[in-house]
Amino acid sequence: MKVQFTETVLRDANQSLVATRLPFARFAPILETMDKAGFYSLECWGGATFDSCLRYLDEDPWERLRKIKAKCPNTKLQMLLRGQNLLGYKHYPDDVVRMFVKKSIENGIDIIRIFDALNDLRNIETAVDETLKNGAIASGAISYTLSPIHNLEMYVGLAKQMADMGCQSICIKDMAGILGPQDAYDLVKAIKQTVSVPVVLHTHSTTGLAPLTLQKAVEAGCEIIDTAISAFSGGTSQYSTEAMAYALTQQGYEVELDTKLLKEINDFFKPVKEEFLSAGTLNPVILSTDTDALTYQIPGGMLSNLVAQLTAQNKLDKLPEVLLETPRVREDLGYPPLVTPMSQMVGVQATSNVLAGERYKNISKEIKSYIKGEYGKAPGGINPELQKKVLGDEAPVTCRYADLLEPQFEKAKAELGDRAKSDEDVLSYIAFPAQAEAFFKKREELKRNTFKYSIRRVD
Ligand code: CO
Repeated sequence: MKVQFTETVLRDANQSLVATRLPFARFAPILETMDKAGFYSLECWGGATFDSCLRYLDEDPWERLRKIKAKCPNTKLQMLLRGQNLLGYKHYPDDVVRMFVKKSIENGIDIIRIFDALNDLRNIETAVDETLKNGAIASGAISYTLSPIHNLEMYVGLAKQMADMGCQSICIKDMAGILGPQDAYDLVKAIKQTVSVPVVLHTHSTTGLAPLTLQKAVEAGCEIIDTAISAFSGGTSQYSTEAMAYALTQQGYEVELDTKLLKEINDFFKPVKEEFLSAGTLNPVILSTDTDALTYQIPGGMLSNLVAQLTAQNKLDKLPEVLLETPRVREDLGYPPLVTPMSQMVGVQATSNVLAGERYKNISKEIKSYIKGEYGKAPGGINPELQKKVLGDEAPVTCRYADLLEPQFEKAKAELGDRAKSDEDVLSYIAFPAQAEAFFKKREELKRNTFKYSIRRVD
């Protein structure tokens, strides 16, 4: 059996270890080698890369994508998309989602991995449809979590609906690294028995389960795994590409990666990692194994947020109470997967419930919107008392939330006028208005300076 690899160093590993601060210029010299190494795909765009380009790196994210494509014409380029939320946390109208997907593909994306934080598949429909229309691969991703209502049957049902929707692969997306090897085996087996498209496993090394989980998933028939070149692997990132390739080859699986080129890629990224370590961007703590997520069944990042919140208020002694309150809040909300922004929302509400000495004395704006149905359908039932408290006599939103939104693209385009040089600029602006505007300004200044400079040279 053949096992294929998606290399994540340019996106998830970059995001998980160094806060997505890897500039294009720093990894550009290795792209041609990466293109030849035999990866199924390079995950290189979407997620936090887009925001980070505009906000911190003074890069046009679209231009970055085009430049990667130019150097990697033979390997599929992959991005992560949060369905109707695109790259952020709020819902966009369909015209924006369609334009974003279309432009992503036009600029070089071949595979779009599409998920919804609540697994409300109405929120991925438009993005999947537009991906297929533009001839790219739509990979449906299931947000994996543990809860009393999330079970094999529910996940298999989601996989089936995604395949029916036209998704050409199903990804199990375990953002917290809490998927254990036996659960992975059972889940992949069950999905494979139900759908005929390839199954992909995305997990993180956070809790140390990753290599066991990847191994068992492959044994159950998972065809594609996400890994990171070893310099950027481990801890909150993915497990090592080379180690997985070595182990699977030894067991007789067909792996098409070029070991020599993998070493070249790793040798390239070793000093990059050192630079981030010495600059302090890469904190060695996140490279170690942290099993707290298994004990508390909440992601490691969420736990450190809770500790930080309580420390800031000089209330760290309340941590045990907050840790008891967190699963209760989650239960009241119908067990949302603890992925951003739900993890923060649940954590903040649990902290507030404990510190106020009264449950739901204060309810955050975000939790109110969630209860109103503005994020989509909760996986389980919302506590009726809490719902009543928030909604009063108002009815919750039961339709797809995006159906309530007015088209936005043409309006934004008109608003920007000649500050936008392309439809891509308009999309950057819709996704991250303040960052995009600041970036457009800087880009203009840079252009003017280059112009002045060239005139001076003529003088
Ligand atoms: Co991830």
